Amino acid sequence: GNISPGPFSPPFHFKGVNFVPLADRRAVEQVESFQVRDDDVFVSAYQKSGTTWVQQIVSLLSTEGDLSEVSKIPIVVRVPWLETMDMSGSGQPYPQLLKDAPSPRLMKTHMPYHMLPQQAREGKGKIIYCARNVKDVVVSWHKMREGLAHIPSGTFDENFQEFINPEQAVYGLWWDVVSEYWRHKDDDNMLFVKFEDLKRDLRGNVVKIANFLSETLSDQRIDEVTANCTFSAMKNNEATNLTRAEAFKDLATKEFEFIRKGKVGDWKNSLSPEQSKILDDIHRTKMAGVDLTFEFE
Ligand code: A3P
Repeated sequence: GNISPGPFSPPFHFKGVNFVPLADRRAVEQVESFQVRDDDVFVSAYQKSGTTWVQQIVSLLSTEGDLSEVSKIPIVVRVPWLETMDMSGSGQPYPQLLKDAPSPRLMKTHMPYHMLPQQAREGKGKIIYCARNVKDVVVSWHKMREGLAHIPSGTFDENFQEFINPEQAVYGLWWDVVSEYWRHKDDDNMLFVKFEDLKRDLRGNVVKIANFLSETLSDQRIDEVTANCTFSAMKNNEATNLTRAEAFKDLATKEFEFIRKGKVGDWKNSLSPEQSKILDDIHRTKMAGVDLTFEFE
């Protein structure tokens, strides 16, 4: 059946972080004490930074590239979003639902590092973090808000202002969230990857992720995984480009595609020179002393 777009909780704050109604308050509150298993995998990213891409890679790796399941079952079911609720009927928050899920559990989250399950921060399970240059993130974020029929969206300028405002930025300020994860990049249970690197060398990053997850796949299987997580494969796959799937069609406007452009440097088509400079200035200040660099084109 269709995925019901409601009932969404209203926007809310939790521990100083701003959440939009895609997250569920009960779920958000349950994340910290979530009981982690050794074989749990958390795919984490700031919104619009390649979360779905890494979800698909992890999901394909877990089935050793076998597509029969992967292209039928929506990515939100295969790799559920931890701090939301199940909208396909039960209405239960995922941390509760996942208690009884079989291993290995693959999960997605946008929570800042310090709000992850405590046991994951203590080293249990595995975390893959994906970061993307901030300019493409803010544009992709606006395009999604504009495209989702049930989430109120401001104009580009309003969403931009919200994005750079520490009080209003959804899930926290991009610079704070990304640099906090970066500080943990060498933790034993953390792998930090970048969207731009995946664009440049997808296969190499699939291998890196497979090694991190201790998945041993033949070269041919790795080729199959890679072929099924390219931009065009994911755009043409209703299980990843959810806005094309019948069950999700009410969630978005007709024009919006969740797997949209997938480019590095698309910000040039949307950001004004002034907005670009504002981001450059914040970036310089916030990332001073953080040895993390990004490609912007
Ligand atoms: P654009 O809006 O710039 O196209 P998230 O999953 O974190 O919400 O990120 C969504 C962004 O990742 C979208 O960016 C989407 O197109 C892009 N994306 C998803 N899968 C991709 C792939 N296989 N290759 C390149 N970009 C991809």
